[in-house]
Amino acid sequence: MTTSQFEDEERFVLVDHPLVQHKVAILRDKETTTKQFRELVRELALFEGYEATRDFPLEDIEVETPLETCIAKQVKGKKVAIIPILRAGLGMVEGMLELMPSARVGHVGMYRDPKTHEPHEYFAKLPPDITSRTCMIVDPMLATGGSANAAIDYLRKQGIEDIRLLVLVAAPEGITSVLEHDPDVRVFSCALDRELNEHAYILPGLGDAGDRIFGTK
Ligand code: PRP
Ligand code: URA
Repeated sequence: MTTSQFEDEERFVLVDHPLVQHKVAILRDKETTTKQFRELVRELALFEGYEATRDFPLEDIEVETPLETCIAKQVKGKKVAIIPILRAGLGMVEGMLELMPSARVGHVGMYRDPKTHEPHEYFAKLPPDITSRTCMIVDPMLATGGSANAAIDYLRKQGIEDIRLLVLVAAPEGITSVLEHDPDVRVFSCALDRELNEHAYILPGLGDAGDRIFGTK
């Protein structure tokens, strides 16, 4: 793990595997095409998903190999919901589903007001048994933390206990805001950036993740 200002903070995990850092570098490059960008977001979500599920409990099962019977491990009845924050979070869903094909997917629609940077919720649809699930919120960018905090508040109101936030690039301001806002949420990021600019964009960042995933700019 890289040393960071959050290194003593158990609820923040920087996923800095060399392959992750390599892929984040390509993601940042302004010359990276929409196709490549989308593919990298999917791949990074998969890597990050490994890290964010590391504590899932296991149970013993009996397996017959071609040679003998042995005791092997399987994940013990962990039910997961992946919750993308629309739009950009959608880019991470496929990678997460590759890892956990039985997971359900709930959606929370949020956009930042370009002037105030305040989040506005415009859509929400969750699986019916959501309270029995570990919820993994996915969104490539954690800037001020406003959108993530609003999504976390919404999930807490539904009675969800285990909430994890998976982002690809985070600003220190956003991490601090989320950790202070919710006492139990755990935050995973593939990069910890320097700061926000006057428009609340992450520096050095990668620009507008939604526009780069969907080719809308
Ligand atoms: C982006 C990003 C996050 C949010 C982060 O979404 O995907 O949801 O901004 O900023 P914050 O931490 O300051 O809230 P945006 O509102 O641009 O919407 P989009 O995904 O539709 O592009
Ligand atoms: N949203 C983005 O897509 N990028 C940023 O840098 C900040 C918010």
